[in-house]
Amino acid sequence: MVKVLFVCLGNICRSPMAEAIFRDLVKKEGLEENFVIDSAGTGNWHVGKPPHRGTQEILQKHAIDFSGIRARQISEEDLRTFDYIIAMDMENLGNLRRLAGYNKVGFIGRLLDFVLDSDLTDVPDPYYTGNFEEVYELIQKGCRHLLETIKKEKGL
Ligand code: 4NP
Repeated sequence: MVKVLFVCLGNICRSPMAEAIFRDLVKKEGLEENFVIDSAGTGNWHVGKPPHRGTQEILQKHAIDFSGIRARQISEEDLRTFDYIIAMDMENLGNLRRLAGYNKVGFIGRLLDFVLDSDLTDVPDPYYTGNFEEVYELIQKGCRHLLETIKKEKGL
């Protein structure tokens, strides 16, 4: 079982979008049985809330299911439990590394680092930019590359 956790700041815009998109890709490839997929925020302001309206609208537009997704804050246990902990930007990555300290944890990296030809390395925060379309395209691309990498690494 491969466990993948997407992480952003609030867990209402980018990481729930990544969770829903990655689930959709995995389902379309018939690999659901092989994965546990989740998301969390480094902050706790929105715990219990469904995804932001902008994230809901873009996922609905592309017929991607996001039912049941609610915001939660990352725990130290998550860092030990998940194999791939995927940050949306450098700030999230720094916070995750600080939380991990010297403990043995899963792989921690940024989503767009899996896209070798990407101009951007951080997924911009649509909570501030309002540009959910751009974020959707970046996350789609990142998730496709991430899934290809995991399939190769895990022989799926
Ligand atoms: P996210 O966006 O990290 O992509 O979920 C944000 C959501 C909420 C806040 C910041 C970013 N906030 O400050 O409440």
